[in-house]
Amino acid sequence: MINIAVMGFGTVGAGVADVFEMNGALIAQRLGEPVYVKYILDVREFPDSPFAGRVVHDFDVILNDPAVEIVVETIGGAKVAYDYTKRALAAGKHVVTSNKELVATKGCELLQLAKEKNVNYLFEAAVGGGIPVLRPMQQCLAANEIEEVYGILNGTTNFILSRMVRAGVTFEAALKEAQSLGYAEQDPTADVEGQDACRKICILADLAFGKELPPEHVPTCGISGVTLRDVEIVEQAGWRVKLLGRALRTAGGKVCAYVAPHLVAAEHPFSAVEDVFNAIMVRGNAVGEVMFYGPGAGKLPTASAVAADVLDAAAHREKRKNIGWSAWRAEDAGTPEELELRGYFRVKDPLETVEARFPGSEILASGGEVAFITPKMPLRRLEDAAAALQLCAKMCVLG
Ligand code: HSE
Repeated sequence: MINIAVMGFGTVGAGVADVFEMNGALIAQRLGEPVYVKYILDVREFPDSPFAGRVVHDFDVILNDPAVEIVVETIGGAKVAYDYTKRALAAGKHVVTSNKELVATKGCELLQLAKEKNVNYLFEAAVGGGIPVLRPMQQCLAANEIEEVYGILNGTTNFILSRMVRAGVTFEAALKEAQSLGYAEQDPTADVEGQDACRKICILADLAFGKELPPEHVPTCGISGVTLRDVEIVEQAGWRVKLLGRALRTAGGKVCAYVAPHLVAAEHPFSAVEDVFNAIMVRGNAVGEVMFYGPGAGKLPTASAVAADVLDAAAHREKRKNIGWSAWRAEDAGTPEELELRGYFRVKDPLETVEARFPGSEILASGGEVAFITPKMPLRRLEDAAAALQLCAKMCVLG
């Protein structure tokens, strides 16, 4: 029997315990031995839970129990979770997590510690919720040089944008719906302002390119500035608004990433990715483009990925999985300003001014305000030229 402990009995932690109850027999058959949730660590009591008798409040109970081989960290954040993860790894326990903030900010260090202690630190659930993407990217695409990874990486914002498009509700009303359905993080700022997507694109970039890309080096813009008016203008012209994280190589071969709302063409598969679903496109130099799609958030989908990592850690107890990336170096990092992009802008200036500054633009709406898509040009030039206009809205264009 494999004994595990679940730290943090919130939505995902409770989902993990549920999955091992619900599918216990099947998991035991597949693994060759049962998995038992011996402890649940939380500051709260859960008197009505079937796991009430296993709740502990002291991390040392888990740390000092040699029977616990695998620890699931679903606490979130990068403070207590960081401390407990370090101590668990240092004690020779495998750690599995859904904590994208911790992996994006401290993953390099924690993976190095896991290597020194010959244990696994696995985090499939940190990107794309229930979608298998990190493991397939590392294993099934291992023979490729990855050229680009981009995706709809945040379920909450995708839900909000879907509601704006389909129901014509405002951003604020759609956010309230997302909160009432439990999709948004406790503080929705991380979802809405793109930080959650930023952490996820950093993890994807770390694995895809083998070099750490810290979130503070990734320009990030969320969807709080996306208005119903822009959504309607672009829809009529055959585009859909999606919040994308992108990581790719610049012309000079350096890796860069950014997060921003994008216009996605109606015929692009991402335009059909609705609600809390996520999609990740990986472009490899042998395989071409491969898309991963599925539920990007939610209790059981995320727990499905965490539980699978527990099984993988158990199967690799003797010979750990070799996962890691090199520490960040400024000289390896490119800047998105070097990328060539098309931009969408809505401005108060007259059409003649727009046409003079951005010749060859596609005009989506005019009269009072002008909404337009520019030709492709270096992002720096795009931003500089747009800064001289009376800007109401701006977005990137995919492709
Ligand atoms: N708040 C996150 C989202 C949860 O909406 O995608 C999954 O990481």
